[in-house]
Amino acid sequence: MSLERTLSIVKPDGVEKNLIGEVVRRFEAAGLRVAGARMLHLSRRQAEGFYAVHQARPFFASLVEFMTSGPCFVMVLEGDGAILKVRDLMGATDPAKAAPGTIRKDFASSIERNVVHGSDGPDTARFETGYFFAEFELARRGGAA
Ligand code: CMP
Repeated sequence: MSLERTLSIVKPDGVEKNLIGEVVRRFEAAGLRVAGARMLHLSRRQAEGFYAVHQARPFFASLVEFMTSGPCFVMVLEGDGAILKVRDLMGATDPAKAAPGTIRKDFASSIERNVVHGSDGPDTARFETGYFFAEFELARRGGAA
């Protein structure tokens, strides 16, 4: 496996449910390291830009509404195979289809209000990490350049 970075967001429903610590705990317990993190209340423009790839989907307006409804906790995670690791820990987008023991199975209330986001591949991870963090804001503890 190679050292990767990925972006994760504890969404407004997760922040409202006081799940920031629980989500970070699960990531850290799986060997991931937090390279950068901050609280953020997304503007409409920021949410639309972040989810631009979903612009044509019927759920886009509702998704933007939800993501701007309260503060988020955005973080960059680093580790071996971080992108897939985070996705495995989150579970399927729809909590009804998520595997037992995953974050979404345990805490999400719907396919939209699904507590947590994680980049879905290397290109997305690069775009999403750069969307919220400058390189100098990220600590590198993994040893690789
Ligand atoms: P996320 O991993 O953040 O990526 C896009 C988000 O859109 C997804 O999580 C859900 O919150 C939301 N989403 C995806 N599919 C649907 C859907 N069919 N209906 C409503 N929201 C969706």
